[in-house]
Amino acid sequence: MAQDVIKIRGGQKLKGKVEISGAKNSSVAIIPAALMAESPVTLDGLPEISDVKTLVSLLEDLNIKTNLSEGTLQLDPTDIKNAPLPNNKVESLRASYYMMGAMLGRFNKCVIGLPGGCPLGPRPIDQHIKGFKALGAKIDDSDDTSMKLEAERLVGANIYLDIVSVGATINIMIAATRAEGQTIIENAAKEPEVVDVANFLNSLGAKISGAGTSTIKITGVSHLSGSRHTIIPDRIEAGTYMCIAAACGEEMYIDNIIPEHVEPLTVKLKELGVKIESGDDYMIVKSTAPYKNVDIKTLVYPGFATDLQQPITPLLFLADGPSFVTDTIYPERFKHVPELQNMNAAITADQGTATIKPSQLVGTEVYASDLRAGACLIIAGLLADGVTTIYNVRHIYRGYSNIVETLKALGADIWTEQQA
Ligand code: EPU
Repeated sequence: MAQDVIKIRGGQKLKGKVEISGAKNSSVAIIPAALMAESPVTLDGLPEISDVKTLVSLLEDLNIKTNLSEGTLQLDPTDIKNAPLPNNKVESLRASYYMMGAMLGRFNKCVIGLPGGCPLGPRPIDQHIKGFKALGAKIDDSDDTSMKLEAERLVGANIYLDIVSVGATINIMIAATRAEGQTIIENAAKEPEVVDVANFLNSLGAKISGAGTSTIKITGVSHLSGSRHTIIPDRIEAGTYMCIAAACGEEMYIDNIIPEHVEPLTVKLKELGVKIESGDDYMIVKSTAPYKNVDIKTLVYPGFATDLQQPITPLLFLADGPSFVTDTIYPERFKHVPELQNMNAAITADQGTATIKPSQLVGTEVYASDLRAGACLIIAGLLADGVTTIYNVRHIYRGYSNIVETLKALGADIWTEQQA
């Protein structure tokens, strides 16, 4: 199948308004979690991204009726059937692992392909498995392409996560919703997406407290019924547009944003010298480059998000000295570095830290290795002299709704072509 490439002629100033979509990383957990309801569910504010479409099609494989239109998903799990979920769809995204928690909760059993997702270095799911086992599940992973999870009954347990993991926290919370008695997750992730999933499950009738803190308590319930829920705004998409505005915004109005969720980025951008005005649910950001150099270290929430270290990197070429970016969550998340080097950037990466020096980027052909690397290359292309051609853009479409059209409307010289 012919694939798109994205082409950008750099140097334009961007102006106008951007509406932020619902959060990808909430949506990809809430869609699977919805299969536990015994009556229809409506989800509003879903982003128009390929990961959402893939998960909806996995629900259809379970005989769930769905209707997805303009960010609203109606789904009716009344006639749900427990079918094995095939590897080809499951491995196209990381978040398919939430089908494990949801199907365990609903059926006490599932057979599922292995999750894929962005190649960010090792991404084990041992903490998810540890949680499911603590709830009473037996896991058979003797097959190379699929896993079988089965419990006679799920029983609440105390689970201490060895690593603060967003995915494990949410997955265990989903399954524990239907376990008998109380589950306590300690050392839980505090990301806003964890809170959104807990709020959604509670709207179905679950009894979850403490989401957003490091201790989450879940009292199991025997039935969940349908509800209507709106997904929270995507803090990573918002943060990406804040970086775009700081790179080349004459003035950008970013709407549907929760300023508190992007605070760690806002603080760094202000340290660089970016001009930001913030309201209850919007931000106005302009480029005031050249900037001051800064150091960044990614941490779990409320620290600086790993998902934003790649998008902020191009701004550091506009600084007046060297900057250092350390990723403590994914020390190998630096596949954008050789691509930026091809664009004439003075950047190196070693042992989880990138060193970035002032550079004038030059357009060339580059490859998006993963979603946020793709966002980084788009920003680099907007800043570069000449034309940048980005390959592998399917990664970008996995997480950003209509990004090419949005940037074009803001004044960017950006277009897609079919790859020859
Ligand atoms: N980890 C383990 N064992 C586990 C789970 C995680 O060792 O069982 C490690 C990971 O290897 C990593 C760290 O713990 O070093 C944190 O991983 P986490 O489980 O929190 O990541 P995730 O749930 O797989 C989500 C987002 C990622 C985001 C990370 C960190 C989804 C679908 N994905 O992944 O988002 O980078 O949290 O915030 O929610 C993206 O949107 O581009 C993206 C990759």
